[in-house]
Amino acid sequence: MAAEADADAAATGQISTPRWAEPDGEPILEASGLHYAYLDRYPALTDVSFTIQRGQRVALLGANGCGKSTLLKILDGLIFASQGSYSAFGQPVTEDTMEDVQMSEGFRSRIGFVFQNSDAQVFSPTVREEIAFGPLQLGISREDTASRVEDITRMLGITDLLDRAPYQLSGGQKKKVAIATVLVMGPEVLLFDEPTAALDPRTQYWLMDLIEQLGNAGKTIVHATHDLDALYRIADRCLIFSEDHRIVAEGTPEQILADRQLLLQVNLIHEHSTLPTPPQPPLEPLHRGKR
Ligand SMILES: Nc1ncnc2c1ncn2[C@@H]1O[C@H](COP(=O)(O)OP(=O)(O)OP(=O)(O)O)[C@@H](O)[C@H]1O
Ligand SMILES: [Mg+2]
Repeated sequence: MAAEADADAAATGQISTPRWAEPDGEPILEASGLHYAYLDRYPALTDVSFTIQRGQRVALLGANGCGKSTLLKILDGLIFASQGSYSAFGQPVTEDTMEDVQMSEGFRSRIGFVFQNSDAQVFSPTVREEIAFGPLQLGISREDTASRVEDITRMLGITDLLDRAPYQLSGGQKKKVAIATVLVMGPEVLLFDEPTAALDPRTQYWLMDLIEQLGNAGKTIVHATHDLDALYRIADRCLIFSEDHRIVAEGTPEQILADRQLLLQVNLIHEHSTLPTPPQPPLEPLHRGKR
């Protein structure tokens, strides 16, 4: 249905109904009334609720400090909300349920997180071991793991780094290794926290392309980003945080980027910022007939 709608839209030059607006999507991540404060003193999330359906590509937008990274950590089961509930794949994700090895292994194999700070993510003596760690933990054989590591590093263009120590790499190289550790697991849900930060423009473009392809392949993607120019490519739904850590609006990239007042109100843009315009349908070829 989505493909037909896309084909129709391409033919007419109109924007298609976003996949997430279709009524029968299967809920995959469900958050209700989440609150979180660091050290019980520094609020990071206030009454945050949403449901994400399978195959949605969701962008989290908001000013620095509004709570995007905190929400991604909760979605990845690294920290737990002090109030409210969070379920993934139909199962509650709590400190208690994550102590169950079967539950936590199943959850970890289905959801992957590329951190904002890749230093926090790389810890093995070599890149090869770093990327192999997750699959081996899940009981995948050494042989299959080795071939996965080879495929993924070739895809990312980092085979020359395999025997290097991850902590000695440049920021962008570390980021690529962190991306490989997540992709090698083949998760259904991908969480990205400003993944293009520290990457050179060529690799940024490549990564946006990859994220677009992963979305087209049906992966569910939640992506914290400040890159408004990339929104049309990487998201079909945006959740907007206010500086008091609440979700105050949601909509398609077209709707959100058309609402300058909203973006000013949440301090995401400056009054002099220019906003990207929606992608235009291709121009009709010039008519070259005789006058
Ligand atoms: N380890 C921590 N200890 C105390 N407070 C924290 C910690 N991490 C984050 N915070 C606070 O929690 C709030 C939300 O932070 P968070 O990192 O989730 O924001 P963000 O939206 O990801 O910001 P950015 O766009 O800068 O990455 C901020 O006020 C921040 O100061
Ligand atoms: Mg952040």
